Amino acid sequence: MQYFTTTSGAASRPGHAVIVGVYEKGKLSRGAEDIDSATGGSIRKLLRQGDLCDQLGASRVLRSISGVRAQRIVVVGLGKPGALDVSQFRYALRSAIECLRGSKINDVTNYLTLEDVEDANAYYLARHTVETIGSKLYAFNELKSSKVVGDIPLKRVGIAVANRGDASKAMLGAEHAGAIVRGMDLARDLGNLPPNVCTPSYLASTAQRLAKQHTNLQTRIINEPEIRKLGMRSFLSVTNGSSEPAKLIVMQYKGGGKDKPVVLVGKGITFDSGGISLKPGPDMDEMKFDMCGAASVMAAIAIAAELRLPINVNVVVPTCENLPGNTATRPGDIIRSMSGQTIEILNTDAEGRLILCDALTYSRRFKPHTIIDVATLTGACVIALGHYRTAVMSPSDSLVAKITAAGIAADDRCWHMPMGPEYERLLRSNFADMANVGTREGGAISAACFLGKFTEGLNWAHLDIAGTAYRSGLRKGATGRPVPVLTEFLLRHAGALH
Ligand code: BES
Ligand code: MN
Ligand code: ZN
Repeated sequence: MQYFTTTSGAASRPGHAVIVGVYEKGKLSRGAEDIDSATGGSIRKLLRQGDLCDQLGASRVLRSISGVRAQRIVVVGLGKPGALDVSQFRYALRSAIECLRGSKINDVTNYLTLEDVEDANAYYLARHTVETIGSKLYAFNELKSSKVVGDIPLKRVGIAVANRGDASKAMLGAEHAGAIVRGMDLARDLGNLPPNVCTPSYLASTAQRLAKQHTNLQTRIINEPEIRKLGMRSFLSVTNGSSEPAKLIVMQYKGGGKDKPVVLVGKGITFDSGGISLKPGPDMDEMKFDMCGAASVMAAIAIAAELRLPINVNVVVPTCENLPGNTATRPGDIIRSMSGQTIEILNTDAEGRLILCDALTYSRRFKPHTIIDVATLTGACVIALGHYRTAVMSPSDSLVAKITAAGIAADDRCWHMPMGPEYERLLRSNFADMANVGTREGGAISAACFLGKFTEGLNWAHLDIAGTAYRSGLRKGATGRPVPVLTEFLLRHAGALH
């Protein structure tokens, strides 16, 4: 997708479509005002006649209006007068774009401006515009044999700006958004691919392909014999029932000289059946999404490489399948992790933490500035927060604050959940240093506490994306989250936003 800025008014902008907004009580956005006055009051007239709707997100397409150069005007309702917050702005924009589905349009210019959006600046307005529109164009039809109709063939997105200074800020925002959308597309493709295609080996070759694409990115794949030599018995205990080989993917982006790296660790379970602690049948297919953490960190490092951020980033992805079988790990088995701590596996379905703990221990060799793991870790997290917020847990409140602030700016929101000794105690075992499960209650937190036993002394945070990485039901599919918040975190770490 390409993007451009324009300082011309909505009525004089040529092209296939412009987007303007109308508020309740007859208030027009600047773009709508411009068109209204160029057309002898057409917008106000249509509003009076009930042909336009001012409710937030209600959109109509007007065609071939004389006095307006663009072929189409999308008029989107903005609700109560007063600035929109970022989520409302994105919601309105999505609905405007949805109106264009199926139309043969190559370009659209957004005329919702800084006046319409609360606390916005030219950079973030452009970034949210391009990211919202870009991610709306995503479709996953590779595996359908007949052509699917109803796509949005947009190629160019225009951003209306007030002046030249804003134009250059907007172009930077658009450029960042373009990279974020490409990263999200990658993460969504990997998530959506079926588990017979997106295997651990497939994730590994994708990481290698990314390293070929970006010369400043390196990938190393560590195979089972070496994983065993490293002592990652906890990781390997999860792959016991599977005939697909497990892989440890290690990626390195060097843009920051001798600086300590940000290390991102992603859960890469390409299918989670639960193992011997088998999951119930309904919706088990959705456990192909259990590698979305891995996909998001691979996307984030690819974005850092594409934008040539002046920082160092490492990615560590332990990836395997969790299947039952006569060689699978049993409930009751005790294994020794790479850290030396022993784990009694009481439930083979709590496998994410078993692969992550060894990946976290492995990551110590990079002497991380910050280490963040990303995982579809617990159903309990979905019960706690639903599908809207990613849970963030860490012993460091200041790291949590950085991540939640980045989530707000990126409109990819997170919520702080606690950790603490009360929860950690739930993991006590009679036979080993710890059990791999606590109680059902507070399950997302005891899972974080389990990981906390392997991150002592590190500046570490854990993101549980079980509720946010994918959608179920009619709109089943990967969302690309939390690529935006990870990218925002890296951009801020790089000081790339002033
Ligand atoms: N991958 C699942 C968590 C999950 C559940 C993600 C639902 C998305 C939607 C994880 O491996 C798992 O099975 N966790 C168990 C842990 C329990 C056995 C302590 C869970 O949440 O039930
Ligand atoms: Mn599981
Ligand atoms: Zn899992």
